[in-house]
Amino acid sequence: MFKIKTYNQISVKGLERFGRDKYEVGSDIGHPDAVLLRSHKLHNETLPESVQAVARAGAGVNNVPVDDYSKRGIVVFNTPGANANAVKELVLAGLLLGSRGIKDGIDHVRTLHDVEDAAELHKMLEAQKKQFAGNELMGKTLGIVGLGAIGSLVADMALALGMEVIGYDPALSIEAAWRLSSDVQRAENLPSLLSHSDYVSLHVPAIEATHHLINDDALSQAKEGLTLVNFARESIVDPKAIVNALKSGKMKGYICDFPEPDFFGRDDVIAMPHIGASTAEAEENCAMMAANQIMDFLEHGNVKNSVNFPAVSMARCEGQRIIFSNENVPKVLGSVLSVLADYNVNVLDMMNKSRGDLAYNILDVERMQNGEVIKAIAEIEQVISVRLID
Ligand code: 3PG
Repeated sequence: MFKIKTYNQISVKGLERFGRDKYEVGSDIGHPDAVLLRSHKLHNETLPESVQAVARAGAGVNNVPVDDYSKRGIVVFNTPGANANAVKELVLAGLLLGSRGIKDGIDHVRTLHDVEDAAELHKMLEAQKKQFAGNELMGKTLGIVGLGAIGSLVADMALALGMEVIGYDPALSIEAAWRLSSDVQRAENLPSLLSHSDYVSLHVPAIEATHHLINDDALSQAKEGLTLVNFARESIVDPKAIVNALKSGKMKGYICDFPEPDFFGRDDVIAMPHIGASTAEAEENCAMMAANQIMDFLEHGNVKNSVNFPAVSMARCEGQRIIFSNENVPKVLGSVLSVLADYNVNVLDMMNKSRGDLAYNILDVERMQNGEVIKAIAEIEQVISVRLID
């Protein structure tokens, strides 16, 4: 029986993937083999020794201490793209909220609940509606920072709305580049993107390199009247810089999924409670993808969509499977193979891939009689984790 510990509200469709004959799943499981979560922060938790994998049902892994887990040989998965459409649709709402008097108009209508005469109400509103006039998105320029799964969908949507689209992504993968419409213009750097954009939407992860990417200095280069949309992460913007830019008129509005105390009382900030991916569809997609990835890893050792391990997948042979991770240094694989030779174990198939400081290996071997083999592999100094899959 594999044990899966869950945090947060995980879609039932995802949890149902774990067959009851093989899995025990719940929020109060002791000694779990894997953890499945959304935004719950793991930084201050002691993860049990038994955990071999952590799957984030979602995109951002800033709530997971990935480097610490890599040192323990724990595979960290995420579900890239699974909630991209949900976020894209809320970005559209954000752009519209930033360009039209939608929120102020609705708020105003709500203040008129005492007016009982319909004709009077309509007359009043017709006279007042000029306060809530806005602008159209068509013909305006949207700058997109980060062109991964979400950024590229936002780009397509903006092009369909008749906007000009400029993109900037210093870490653009080849796969993402293929996905991107050729109508997206390339900005050489962030200042260039900011200086040409009426609207900017952020789609980069929360990592050290993106911490306060949008700060006083960056905003000083922005086009006058910028509306910034942030459905990525709070740490990417410096809230003080946002308030400064709004006060000076450099920025017209800030629409985000991350309220901050600095923003309360400001009509030019619309902040939502981190609901970018909160749709039934996205929650299902993420949970199902995360569950599938955990099962494929626990049952077969295959790794797909990990943020710290290389992607490795190998069809099963008859016999048993040994999986192990190790420090990415010479001679480790050789040492493991010589242990197998010492115990007279025949290797049927194998795969070895590395990523940064880590290497990961799958070895299919003929059924072993000796239970000491896995222990002997674990004793090799640079081997981080090893497991036998029957
Ligand atoms: C993500 O990183 O995928 C989104 O921020 C969604 O987070 P959530 O799963 O907590 O809604």
